[in-house]
Amino acid sequence: MLPQFLWAIVVSFLLADDYRLSFDTPVTVTGKNFSTTSAPALFSLPSSSSEVTISLALCAAASTNPPRVFVSNSSDSQVVPGPNGGADVFGVQIGGLGLGNFTLGLSSESTAGVLAVYGGAPSDSLEIGVTQGTTPLHAPVQDLPFFGDSTANEVLLFSPPFLPPEPAPQPTFPNYMLPQANISLPSASPSQNSPNFTLFLAPLSAGLSALPQTACAIRAGVMNNTQAAQSAKVLAEQLWLRDELGWRKEWLVGLLTPLTNYSVYAIQDGTRLGGPIYFTTKSASFSCQLVHALPYCPTTAYAVPLPAPPARALAYDSSNLPTSLTAPLFGYLTNFTTSLLTTACGRDAYSPLQSCADCQAAYRRWLCSISLPRCGEFPQTPSDPQQQQQQTLAVPAPALVPQMSGMTPRNAALGNASNYTALLPCIETCNAVDRACPVFLGFRCPLPQFTAYASYGVGYIDSADGQVKDGGVPGVPQDQWGNVFCNVS
Ligand SMILES: *[C@@H]1O[C@H](CO)[C@@H](O)[C@H](O)[C@H]1NC(C)=O
Ligand SMILES: *[C@@H]1O[C@H](CO)[C@@H](O)[C@H](O)[C@H]1NC(C)=O
Ligand SMILES: *[C@@H]1O[C@H](CO)[C@@H](O)[C@H](O)[C@H]1NC(C)=O
Ligand SMILES: *[C@@H]1O[C@H](CO)[C@@H](O)[C@H](O)[C@H]1NC(C)=O
Ligand SMILES: *[C@@H]1O[C@H](CO)[C@@H](O)[C@H](O)[C@H]1NC(C)=O
Ligand SMILES: *[C@@H]1O[C@H](CO)[C@@H](O)[C@H](O)[C@H]1NC(C)=O
Ligand SMILES: *[C@@H]1O[C@H](CO)[C@@H](O)[C@H](O)[C@H]1NC(C)=O
Ligand SMILES: *[C@@H]1O[C@H](CO)[C@@H](O)[C@H](O)[C@H]1NC(C)=O
Ligand SMILES: *[C@@H]1O[C@H](CO)[C@@H](O)[C@H](O)[C@H]1NC(C)=O
Ligand SMILES: *[C@@H]1O[C@H](CO)[C@@H](O)[C@H](O)[C@H]1NC(C)=O
Repeated sequence: MLPQFLWAIVVSFLLADDYRLSFDTPVTVTGKNFSTTSAPALFSLPSSSSEVTISLALCAAASTNPPRVFVSNSSDSQVVPGPNGGADVFGVQIGGLGLGNFTLGLSSESTAGVLAVYGGAPSDSLEIGVTQGTTPLHAPVQDLPFFGDSTANEVLLFSPPFLPPEPAPQPTFPNYMLPQANISLPSASPSQNSPNFTLFLAPLSAGLSALPQTACAIRAGVMNNTQAAQSAKVLAEQLWLRDELGWRKEWLVGLLTPLTNYSVYAIQDGTRLGGPIYFTTKSASFSCQLVHALPYCPTTAYAVPLPAPPARALAYDSSNLPTSLTAPLFGYLTNFTTSLLTTACGRDAYSPLQSCADCQAAYRRWLCSISLPRCGEFPQTPSDPQQQQQQTLAVPAPALVPQMSGMTPRNAALGNASNYTALLPCIETCNAVDRACPVFLGFRCPLPQFTAYASYGVGYIDSADGQVKDGGVPGVPQDQWGNVFCNVS
């Protein structure tokens, strides 16, 4: 039996609405709610006849007396869970990232569970969530956000993928049809119950990595940072089907500072943290423009040597990309498709693994990366001293090649662009076409031992014939730290 005074506290807390937890609705308590007396703050768990999972997230760096949390599913409704334990009393540990979870069995005959928070200082802030089943409300998002590309002041960013597309039905002989050159995005857009991602980013100097890696801490850290809050503005957002991994939220962010390393998080449904990834903005003299949201080149989301977009548009997209660029792209793709269809697609298999549809898709992706060359920039001294220390780490040099104006541009339609530095396509984009297409089309990629280095990034994803480049093969076209080695689109 409880001492009389504690029992009075139990009753008063359990009756207050603020202290009644419900499923999927996080509640935030600050140290002020539980540190003033030695008595814990008590919460009632929602009733359930099966497992529930308690999830905790620190919303600010913990004080020297961090909050401690205990839960009980005792059928004795007078048990106050606490450090002294007892039957059916469990401690919920908060780990290094600032997250904790505990799955509790609740049988229908037991009364609803109780959660108690002890200790803490007034600066402590804790978010408490309860879900049915075993997935914590604050479970981190496993996949990372994706960096498209940056200019001096803008960036294209994508959420982790969340809804894989329906596989397109394979066409069959004799009515073997392939998509037009100018395709549109599938209409089967995600529904209302698809996850809702929100973007949070700030310069490294905002110190987000020193905060607990929880959604509420990062949100507060960005809101609190005057530099981050006053700059970095989402100018446009949409859902985008980049590739077969699935739909993503795409953000076009502006008002960034040149030559600055930013950390990026995507928060799903308010409680689940994805990230971080990092990217660096280009120097103020970087002159290329972002191109994105092209249904016929769905992976294109990077800077291209083009003049500023017309009519004060934020970036180039399918509504304003010059026809001098799209017309030849559609022409090559249409002619390629016509040649491809001269084989008996769907009847005479030229490969056990590849179809004409795979060949066209690989060619489209390659053609987009060739027709829309990507700009890069040789690494420059960052303005941020915190970042200068990072430069000592050995990473492979990216596939950058200066392009002087007056030189024959790879795509004649680009005309005499001003000088820019090209970030070459990864050779794997070319090899994928070679692999997927019938031999009679005569598509060939340059060999690493000859000319490939002049026009492609070689040895970044796959090693180039066993030659390991200085610094080692990264195995990826770009990494989460903001290094981009070659253009994979
Ligand atoms: C915690 O305390 C603050 C201020 O003391 C109060 O506004 C808030 O409602 C309390 N939270 C809960 C869950 O009672
Ligand atoms: C309380 O939860 C624990 C851990 O999930 C479980 O083993 C136990 O059976 C539960 N007790 C009751 C009374 O539901
Ligand atoms: C739940 O907590 C355990 C440690 O108690 C941890 O290993 C696990 O990763 C957590 N689960 C999630 C989804 O965060
Ligand atoms: C591509 O097709 C769409 C929809 O039919 C059309 O609105 C758009 O103008 C076309 N794009 C080009 C560059 O022809
Ligand atoms: C998504 O989250 C944002 C920010 O939390 C909110 O403003 C918006 O209403 C949410 N949208 C949907 C469809 O839930
Ligand atoms: C937000 O700013 C206030 C006042 O500057 C500071 O006390 C608090 O610790 C900051 N919170 C975070 C999460 O950075
Ligand atoms: C496509 O083929 C037509 C007819 O052979 C030809 O006139 C045109 O120049 C070709 N287009 C491209 C971009 O090669
Ligand atoms: C590009 O510049 C070169 C050298 O200045 C000139 O000869 C050529 O005609 C120009 N081409 C175009 C398409 O303007
Ligand atoms: C391009 O670079 C060359 C060589 O550095 C220089 O002579 C030329 O003036 C530059 N052109 C432009 C348009 O900046
Ligand atoms: C950006 O900062 C992160 C975190 O300090 C670091 O790991 C990364 O190397 C930096 N990126 C670049 C491109 O300098």
